Amino acid sequence: MTTPKKICILGSGNWGSAIAKIVGSNVTKFDTFDNEVRMYVYEEMVDGRKLTEIINTTHENVKYLPGKKLPSNVVAIPDVVDAALDADVIIFVIPHQFIRKICQPLIGKLKPTTVGISLIKGFDLKEGGGIVLISHLIKEVVNIPVSVLMGANLAGEVAEEKFCETTIGCRDVEVGKMYRNLIQTDYFRVVVVDDVEAVEVCGALKNIVASGAGFVDGLGYGDNTKAAVIRLGLMEMIKFCEVFYPGSKLGTFFESCGVADLITTCYGGRNRRVAEAFVTSGKSIEELEKEMLNGQKLQGPYTAAEVNHMLKAKGMESRFPLFTAIHQICLGVIPPSGMIDCIRNHPEHMCSFDKQHTSVSGSHE
Ligand SMILES: NC(=O)c1ccc[n+]([C@@H]2O[C@H](COP(=O)([O-])OP(=O)(O)OC[C@H]3O[C@@H](n4cnc5c(N)ncnc54)[C@H](O)[C@@H]3O)[C@@H](O)[C@H]2O)c1
Repeated sequence: MTTPKKICILGSGNWGSAIAKIVGSNVTKFDTFDNEVRMYVYEEMVDGRKLTEIINTTHENVKYLPGKKLPSNVVAIPDVVDAALDADVIIFVIPHQFIRKICQPLIGKLKPTTVGISLIKGFDLKEGGGIVLISHLIKEVVNIPVSVLMGANLAGEVAEEKFCETTIGCRDVEVGKMYRNLIQTDYFRVVVVDDVEAVEVCGALKNIVASGAGFVDGLGYGDNTKAAVIRLGLMEMIKFCEVFYPGSKLGTFFESCGVADLITTCYGGRNRRVAEAFVTSGKSIEELEKEMLNGQKLQGPYTAAEVNHMLKAKGMESRFPLFTAIHQICLGVIPPSGMIDCIRNHPEHMCSFDKQHTSVSGSHE
């Protein structure tokens, strides 16, 4: 019999804790997994006590997932190397701003057979321009194969065990089956696909679109307007993959990681909520992040800046007018009403008879 796989979760925010609840329960159902799940927790003081101590005694992450019990076999550990050292499987689930810092101490310390899966939405910036997928960054830094999990998965609803679907991007069939055993439940259904990059790009870009949805909500427009933002956002997400990740499959955009995650984020997520308040309060994104999110992190405005950096470097801003306008609104370069001008004049409003002379990526044939 093979040795049971040890699981480590790097991250313990809202999503990290919700996934710990699932994984902690699932490892006890299969002989193939070790029963202890080690969870790296960024140490913070909460009401005068260490968060790790609170989690290990009350089995609740009172700061990031209050009111939900974690299984007692999930052990909170404040040191990233202690948490990950012997792991066979590492689940990366921290805001993308911190991923480099978390990976650095692990260089050269992991077992050669360790595999990873990233639940992180966002990109990192390449030195000298361009973006790096977080799964590629992790692979580059700690030298392990990295799959991804993305989907219409608002953490609070998953923690409440309300039904949802998710998408895992994984090229190795056996590893994909292992991830399904580790993560699937009767209320959290997993579909594994091999189009790994497109799954991850969907997860990052939808947060930009959600900021746009929040702006039109803040401006007092209705659901029809928001549907236009969602549709045009989806078109730009598809075009982004065509241009930068050629070979991506259109079908991937119809998995949970694509259209479903886009819809749920544009109605329910924190990026939409903060963008709405940005319009109605006149405060900066940074102020609102501090005021509204209790330590949680925003992704939309940062991802918009990272994407803009890449588009600008390639002279492509005008081909992605929605992404570009959202970035400019976050910076205060144009007012929030610029969102309406952008969707009104969007090139995707061309009729079929206009399109006859234009190729998919927008250049004239
Ligand atoms: N929350 C959701 O509904 C959801 C759903 C799907 C995917 N995601 C993605 O999962 C990832 C993690 O999000 P989350 O919701 O678990 O986190 P979060 O925003 O709820 O929490 C912030 C986390 O960052 C940690 N942190 C704060 N300062 C830090 C520092 N200086 N160094 C290291 N860590 C620090 C905190 O301890 C906490 O674990 C993100 O990429 C997010 O997009 C979130």
